[in-house]
Amino acid sequence: MDVINLLPSPPHFFRIFFRLALSLFTSTLHANYRRVLPGRRSYLDFDINTETGFFPHHPLPRLPETFGIWERALAEANRNLSLGANNCEEATRRAGETWRSNIRTWPILDTEVLEVDSRLLQRAHLVLAWLVNFYVHSQPPENDGPMLIPQSLTVPLTIVSRSLQIAPVLTFADTVLWNWVPRHADEPLSPENIQFENLFSGTEDERNFYIASAKAELRGVEMLRIIDDYNNLPNLTDLTSISKVSKSLARLTVIIEDINEIIQSVRPNVDPHVFYGDIRPWFEGSGAKGPDGPKWVYEGVEDSDKLDLSGPSAGQSSVMHALDIFLDIDHKLRQKRLPAPSESNKRADHGFMERMRRYMPGKHREYLNYLAGTPRSVRELAQRIPTLREPYDAAVLALKKLRDEHMKIACLYVVTMSRSTSTRGGCPVSAMMERLETSRKGPVRGTGGNELALLLKAGRDATRRAVLKDN
Ligand code: HEM
Repeated sequence: MDVINLLPSPPHFFRIFFRLALSLFTSTLHANYRRVLPGRRSYLDFDINTETGFFPHHPLPRLPETFGIWERALAEANRNLSLGANNCEEATRRAGETWRSNIRTWPILDTEVLEVDSRLLQRAHLVLAWLVNFYVHSQPPENDGPMLIPQSLTVPLTIVSRSLQIAPVLTFADTVLWNWVPRHADEPLSPENIQFENLFSGTEDERNFYIASAKAELRGVEMLRIIDDYNNLPNLTDLTSISKVSKSLARLTVIIEDINEIIQSVRPNVDPHVFYGDIRPWFEGSGAKGPDGPKWVYEGVEDSDKLDLSGPSAGQSSVMHALDIFLDIDHKLRQKRLPAPSESNKRADHGFMERMRRYMPGKHREYLNYLAGTPRSVRELAQRIPTLREPYDAAVLALKKLRDEHMKIACLYVVTMSRSTSTRGGCPVSAMMERLETSRKGPVRGTGGNELALLLKAGRDATRRAVLKDN
């Protein structure tokens, strides 16, 4: 019904004014619905929320009671299990052994009933993947051969992972995107209103590590909007559009600077010793010690050696990948750009970022593929339109700076700590032996056993190479 037609005929000026006010009101009402050009796909297709981005809008539901043994074992692990390498107490060792042997006696539960709801599948993935890492890393480190993981965990984990199209192992989604409840149940998710449920070490440092990752992810929501708005511009030739793109690039630069600051916030909030000694070991996946290190075997799963079983990494954050795609960062060295790649750049693991996408929920990976497939490269546009070069370069340089600063963090928290002979907590002698062994075995390794320093430098240099001024 047209409200205007119900009113007595007012002067023309008022009619226009009233219509304008009404349309402003309705457009505000619909502000939450993203405008999508015909033929383009919406956020909903990719399980992305307009307010929380790659986070689900609400926390995941608990699994039904049929799966109560999983939920209870996870709650118990959170309370009682400690890292096998640090665990000298006979009583805690025995508690760990009992917990693990119980899991070995479990039946393989049928997960078909969960297929009706992707949030339940996600919860099952989270619970099982956390159980796997608790199972592996609560064991004393004597075992040097392949790590056998019982089929009561591996079979359902592999099945739900296939449905979600995500690696059957602990991922960034399990530790950050899905691992939260709000502090205040009646308020929406925000950096202030989030708390993390599962923790391996139980330390504030671990909590703060997840909070930093979550803040970066939430800061990225505005970035997703910018990318979406860019891709929905009706054309890229008129002055209004060019000016809009210029403003969006300036805004993007601010967001990247904010994410950089968020990453730096780990310095006062996460102790490097606690991170390296008490948190990071829990994250290790199969092959973490390099190509010759022990591998995980998923009992009851065919071709388990072909599964993606590296650990979680912020390299699996879809926000950062979206940024790389939008700015056209060439991690795989496919383009001829300047400055030419160094020898160490050439030796680095160029497939890392692409591999990390297999550890994202399938729909988020699909979104990235969709973005990569859009024919509108902002870099090419900036190459053509001189006024866009500077704002584009500024965004790229902000990202390069982020990677520079992030490298310093990785160096402090991982490389320096791996070379440090200082010991803290746990069993002093075994901790020292472990560190000595790491340095004897050669380079410090990141997720999946890649050479860390080479990898991060190559990412930083690939970013630098997108700058238009030098190309
Ligand atoms: C104590 C804090 C942190 C440490 C020690 C750390 C360490 C690392 C390491 C070792 C890698 C190499 C890949 C791997 O092994 O997983 C990596 C990659 C990465 N990290 Fe962090 N990180 C930290 C915090 C963060 C935060 C808060 C973010 C937020 C976005 C982040 C974003 C990334 C990204 C995007 C990569 C992929 C490589 C790249 O894009 O350059 N990191 N990090």
